[in-house]
Amino acid sequence: MIPEFADPAAPSLPLWLVRSGDAGPLLPPGLGAPAESWARAQGFAGKPGQICLLPSAEGALAGALFGLGAADRPPGRERFPLARAAEALPAGNWRLENLPEGFDAGRAALGWLFAQYRFDRYKAAEPARARLVCPKGAEPRRLLALASGEYLARDLINTPASDMGPEELEEAARALAARHGATVEVTRGAGLLEANFPMIHAVGRAGAQEPRLIDLRFPGSGPRLTLVGKGVCFDTGGLDIKPPSSMALMKKDMGGAANVLGLAETMASLGLTRGLSLRVLIPAVENAISANAFRPGDILTSRKGLTVEINNTDAEGRLVLADALALAAEESPALLISMATLTGAARVALGPELPPFFCDDDATAAAIQSAGMAAADPVWRLPFWEPYETMIEPGIADLDNAPSGGFAGAITAALFLRRFAAGAGRYAHFDIYGWQPSAAPGRPKGGTGQGMRALLDALPELLA
Ligand code: BES
Ligand code: MN
Ligand code: ZN
Repeated sequence: MIPEFADPAAPSLPLWLVRSGDAGPLLPPGLGAPAESWARAQGFAGKPGQICLLPSAEGALAGALFGLGAADRPPGRERFPLARAAEALPAGNWRLENLPEGFDAGRAALGWLFAQYRFDRYKAAEPARARLVCPKGAEPRRLLALASGEYLARDLINTPASDMGPEELEEAARALAARHGATVEVTRGAGLLEANFPMIHAVGRAGAQEPRLIDLRFPGSGPRLTLVGKGVCFDTGGLDIKPPSSMALMKKDMGGAANVLGLAETMASLGLTRGLSLRVLIPAVENAISANAFRPGDILTSRKGLTVEINNTDAEGRLVLADALALAAEESPALLISMATLTGAARVALGPELPPFFCDDDATAAAIQSAGMAAADPVWRLPFWEPYETMIEPGIADLDNAPSGGFAGAITAALFLRRFAAGAGRYAHFDIYGWQPSAAPGRPKGGTGQGMRALLDALPELLA
């Protein structure tokens, strides 16, 4: 699906934004007394998300009112206030007729595009019908690029593992590369052993499709930025098999890969890749069960040489990421980012809508967190808590992939990854959920982007 605005030259209906609680007439001047009494008779009071259709004298649809709530309503309850309009208005083109003070037209337009997303690969979904003319002051090119990245991430996550294995994930990465002139190198199957990616191989070798490492480089020159995304196309838990309720959603375990590809799509569409050396690495595997599956108690030697005792085959994400991060760190990028649906513990700590991220550099972390808040893409810093390093150090190997006890599971997973990222200028890791559990305005139930806009907006500061 392609995000689209309405053609500004085509006929459109006016949409009036109305705040509640204003003294005097409810509606903006120009609408007239009949509209005012019509709105009041309908019970329209400008409450958040309230909609009132306006008739013409002939009984045709002449426009609509949309409630924004009180001017002093605390922001942030809803990320995309206008998205409700996109979901509820009748078919046709709509234009914002008034822009109240303090109303963020760019945010509103982005929310509208986000609300128009449909996942229609398996069933003809009712198409989004209401289209928005991109409002004044908003940048259509930028908003469409943001929405394309978001749509891509959602599509990849929503597609079940039966159609989104390592093979199809590679194809999606190749398609993205082809759109933007990036080069692709893929190391597969036994090639992973020859090229020294033993842990990607160990985790993925039980899958029906060959495990692989996908390596994209975008044309451009400047500071090195490397994005690494967890591409576990399905996570059964391996031999330490997950119970049904935990396995149900594990098609989304390539959410990190989906997000870094979505971010790369947006950056490349905006031409932002030209001034840097962008590389995207995706270890793509299925954590499956078979006679050749890796086992609890196995000790793996990683690309970096560190040995890892497997305490739980369900802590597979950190293993495949470790080899990819080690490769990334070998060329010392200025900034190394990983995104992964890594731990259940991150969800216990902050819930599905506020992904934690980890970064040792205070200025980098502050830039990312504040950019995320400003872009309706909230992320929250957690610490790489040094004293917990002992928790990932078992008796007979350098590292333990799944410390028993499970205390601080998101932190211990992040500390594990950090061991392999050493050599990069700065490193930030995002433990995302990648899934919207129930629909919210602009955020349909299903796969979702997390952290993409936080990173995108922080980048100028991070790579300055
Ligand atoms: N993919 C899961 C983490 C996950 C679970 C993310 C549910 C989002 C929702 C990961 O591979 C995993 O299984 N992690 C284990 C690690 C544990 C065995 C140390 C977890 O978090 O339970
Ligand atoms: Mn797992
Ligand atoms: Zn996993």
